[in-house]
Order: sequence, then structure tokens, then C-alpha cells
Amino acid sequence: MQRQKTMLVTGAADGTGFAIAARFAKEGWQVLVTSRDIRRAQAAAERIMQQYGTPAFGYALDGVDVQQVAALFDQLDRQDLCPDTVVLNAANLGIGMDPLTVSAEDFMAVLQTNVGWNFAIVQQAARRMKQAGGGAVVFINSNTAYRAIPARCAYSASKSGVLGLARALALDLGKYHIRVNCVLPGMIKTSRWEENANDIQHAPSRYTPLGDIAEFEDIANAAWFLGSDQARNTTGAELTVDGGNMIQLYPIIPQQS
Ligand SMILES: NC(=O)c1ccc[n+]([C@@H]2O[C@H](COP(=O)([O-])OP(=O)(O)OC[C@H]3O[C@@H](n4cnc5c(N)ncnc54)[C@H](OP(=O)(O)O)[C@@H]3O)[C@@H](O)[C@H]2O)c1
Repeated sequence: MQRQKTMLVTGAADGTGFAIAARFAKEGWQVLVTSRDIRRAQAAAERIMQQYGTPAFGYALDGVDVQQVAALFDQLDRQDLCPDTVVLNAANLGIGMDPLTVSAEDFMAVLQTNVGWNFAIVQQAARRMKQAGGGAVVFINSNTAYRAIPARCAYSASKSGVLGLARALALDLGKYHIRVNCVLPGMIKTSRWEENANDIQHAPSRYTPLGDIAEFEDIANAAWFLGSDQARNTTGAELTVDGGNMIQLYPIIPQQS
């Protein structure tokens, strides 16, 4: 009998991460969900099991603690759970950083989580994927890896860093049949976006060639493609999911009707 495929996704108690977990579960994969809050992770796993009937488990994982990553993978070993695919979704958003006043600690914390902590997860996963004969890593990155937005200097730096990290990992891990790719969302319709009246008024959706920004499912579909065998000959790639925003030299502002 064929072994059930297993995926792990970080920061998946709700929103984008949960949609990614659900997308794989819909395809019959076993799902491992992490959150900084164990109860939220377990509640998300319970919802996945109820909705899709696949096994799902929740774990605590905090983006500041690299030791905890090794402990999590030891725990998965004991449970005989080995992810075929890992999706790095959780991020320190580093919102509201003035480059003139942000402390070195706050700046470095964003890099530590988005680059260092993610690397620690991939390292643990890749050691096991190598033993298993292959696997896939998907970074949920951002189009801010290429284009800046205000007051997000550490976030942009970290997301550009993830691009370089993903390419380097794709190169080094290809010989073990481990693929490493990035999804680059533009703005996503999160609760933050829904609740921010000013953002809605000035949302890039109005200036987006396709006329709207992404839903959670758009990001989940891209993660599914890159994280599954559908992309079995793709590594080191970037899949931008931003309604076409990044291709513009300047936004075409639609006329009010
Ligand atoms: N939202 C957008 O418009 C947008 C645009 C471009 C790219 N992205 C990228 O898409 C991914 C998901 O975005 P999102 O807006 O849905 O994210 P989010 O909800 O802000 O973050 C995803 C999850 O990450 C966890 N998290 C937050 N801060 C963390 C920290 N310091 N350390 C460890 N975990 C932390 C949280 O889960 P717990 O509290 O449960 O641990 C959170 O639910 C991120 O990688 C983001 O950079 C988002």
C-alpha cells in the first residue's frame, strides 16, 4: 500500500497557512500544523480532520526559538511522521519600522525569524527528506522581496534574503531530489486587510492588472502546485501571485465611473 503523503505548514492556525493546510488535506495528504499557540494549532488540526477526513496534528512552534525546531522534529520522528513537503508560511511582518529609529534588536528579530528560523526548519526537514529519497520545500515569500513598501525595511530585507536562500538550497539539495521553490504573494485578503478601512480605500486591488488582490486559496493553490509532484521538475523557481502588480512600472489608476 502506498504511504500517505505528509506535509507540514507553519503559522497555519488560520488565514493563509490554514488554507494551505486545507488544500493539501483536500488532496488526501496528512497535515502537520504549527502555531505559536499549541491550542490554536490543535484546533486547526481538528478542523482539518473534520472537514477532509485526513489525519492532522497540531504543534507549538515559535519563530524565535531555533532549539524548539530540533525538538519538534525529534517528536515527529518518535511519531513516525516525516514531512514530504514543508511550507514555510509563518512570518514576522516587521510592520511600522522607521529606518531612522528602529532598534538593531527589532530589525534583527525579523531576519532571525524569516531567514534563520525558516532555515532551521528546512535543515531538519531536509535531513529526513534525504533519507526518504526526496521532498519539497515551499517558502511563502512576498513580492516585497523585489518592490519596497513603506516602513517595512527589515521585512523586505528578510524576504529578499529568503529568495537567495531558496536558490542556494535548491542548488545544494537538488542532488537529494529535494525541490525548493517560492510563492510570492502580493497583498492577501487577510483580516488585517478587511479591517483596515484606509487600506481598503487605497487598496492596490484597484491598481492591479487583474483587478483584485489574492484570496487565501490563490496562495494555497500555488503552494499546492509547487509542493506536490505536479511541479516535480521545478526547483529554484518563483511563482508570483499578485494579480500582476509587480509587472507594472507604475500603477494604472482606473477612472472612477
Ligand atoms: N498578508 C499579505 O498581504 C502578504 C503579502 C505578501 C506576502 N505575505 C506572506 O504570506 C505569508 C502569510 O501571510 P499572512 O498575512 O497570512 O501572515 P500572518 O497571519 O501575519 O502570519 C502567519 C502566521 O505566522 C505566525 N507568526 C506571526 N508572527 C510570527 C513570529 N514572529 N514568529 C513566528 N510565527 C509568527 C502567526 O501564527 P501564530 O500566531 O498562530 O503562531 C500567523 O498566523 C507570510 O509569509 C507573509 O510574509 C503576506
